[in-house]
Amino acid sequence: MIKNPFLSSNISPNCPNAWEKLKSHHGELSKKSIVELFSSEKDREKSLSLSWEDFFIDFSKNKINSTTIDLLLDLVKELDLRESIDALFSGKKINATENRSVLHTALRSETKDTLLVDGENIISNIQENKKRMFSLAKKIINEDWRGFSDKPIKTIVNVGIGGSNLGPVFVNEALKFYRNDINIRFISNIEGDHLFEILKSLDPESTIFIIASKTFTTQETIINAKTIKDWFLQKGSIKSFGRHFIAVTSSIEKAKAFEIADENIFHIADWTGGRFSLWGPVGLSICVSIGPNNFERLLNGAYSMDKHFRNSEFKNNIPVILALISIWYNNFWGADSEAVIPYSQYLKNFPSYLQQASMESNGKNINRDGKKISYQTGNIIWGSTGTNAQHAFFQLLHQGTKLIPIDFIGFVKSLHAQENQQDKLISNLFGQAEALMLGKNKSQVIKELEKKGLSKKEIFKLTPFKIFDGNRPSNTIMIKELTPYNLGALIALYEHKIFVQGIVWNIFSFDQWGVELGKELANKIYDDISKNTLKDYDSSTKQLIKFYLKTKTLFL
Ligand code: F6P
Repeated sequence: MIKNPFLSSNISPNCPNAWEKLKSHHGELSKKSIVELFSSEKDREKSLSLSWEDFFIDFSKNKINSTTIDLLLDLVKELDLRESIDALFSGKKINATENRSVLHTALRSETKDTLLVDGENIISNIQENKKRMFSLAKKIINEDWRGFSDKPIKTIVNVGIGGSNLGPVFVNEALKFYRNDINIRFISNIEGDHLFEILKSLDPESTIFIIASKTFTTQETIINAKTIKDWFLQKGSIKSFGRHFIAVTSSIEKAKAFEIADENIFHIADWTGGRFSLWGPVGLSICVSIGPNNFERLLNGAYSMDKHFRNSEFKNNIPVILALISIWYNNFWGADSEAVIPYSQYLKNFPSYLQQASMESNGKNINRDGKKISYQTGNIIWGSTGTNAQHAFFQLLHQGTKLIPIDFIGFVKSLHAQENQQDKLISNLFGQAEALMLGKNKSQVIKELEKKGLSKKEIFKLTPFKIFDGNRPSNTIMIKELTPYNLGALIALYEHKIFVQGIVWNIFSFDQWGVELGKELANKIYDDISKNTLKDYDSSTKQLIKFYLKTKTLFL
């Protein structure tokens, strides 16, 4: 059994007094609609909203009242959340199954901070690494870094998967407005077609490949890197390799064995979890595309959110409040999923970024004492951008049978000064949140149809289909403007939300053993497929392998 000495509580959420109280409170509250809660609580919208820097969070359109918040706050008090937050920031080895600290927050802390891990002040190393990263980015941007035929670098390709891909993909797109004209491409999947679709558009003379892999053993990344190396060597020579290949990894030795030049290797410390790694050298492609100053602003925004999370009272603490509301729906209302709907095309990859951050962290069924859990943990995260999503799956959100809490995210200012369209966009955001909460009742529908001049018979037939039950909850997160600083803060907000949820659910949020089994079995199957043999499998898998081998032979 692995206990975590640094999270002394190790208490499951259903043990504290507050849990039982929340259960009976849920019983009472479920009889009231959100609209009724508004009429019974004066200034509810004010007491259930928070302002912080450029952020304004309205969480009043939820199935909660002030008692709910008080009880949820009692819960985290009983679970000693404060102590866990201190353990996180101070570098205690809270990733106990891997015996590691969890210090992505250190990557954005200030130079004057000191943080000892195993007796070493890691801040100075972080700053040193950052300096190297910034100077490399500047060289590329200023065209001082040249390819083997002396061409300036026009394209950076990030080769990595999971956390070594999703953060750079998301942020590079989110901060498109701030980018220079260096192309950033991504190769992640093991699929050869995906790889060659990208390679065919590249000029090896003006391209740099960043091989980003914390372990430098991930099958997808290493196979892709080898194929790319062969492709490159058809044009360039191994002597020119140093001008075109960079590694970002924890395994310096493996990167060297791949013939990456020493000066092109950036180290990922073991206390950086893959899904939280964009703040360090995994963010190199971001740093090149938006430039070091903007990258620094991204870090500063995250750092500021870190301070808010670490120091604010829980009742005013945005990540804590959002985590608790999410727990409220997950554990007391039985909501399985949560939708994230940014009203900004720049944030189109935010839902998939959050899927890894949240689901790889909190998709666990064993508690910190190694025991099977008897309550729900990690939510299913999904979503897409508004207004596109309105024309895709909002039907189900409005009139489906499932309870799906939503985070709406919007920006006040348009980056291209398209204020008229921005007004329309944000009106849609507000309108959707309102419609989900208010719904439309039978008499409203009948009145509307009468106004349109429909007959009694037609009205009778149509009415049930036009009713919206309403009472569907959402948070609205409004941010003044999409800047690197505010984006950093937004990502950190969700990181901390995920952390709080893991603490409450009494799970280890920073390992990911659940991704291993599928990889092992894929290796076993590949062994058979490549040799045209067949080991022992379940009968369905056996049938699929046979089908694949037979059909492949017919094709070849
Ligand atoms: O598949 C899970 C995972 O380990 C992720 O946690 C990680 O982000 C990804 O694989 C990539 O790992 P690496 O950076 O070591 O290649």
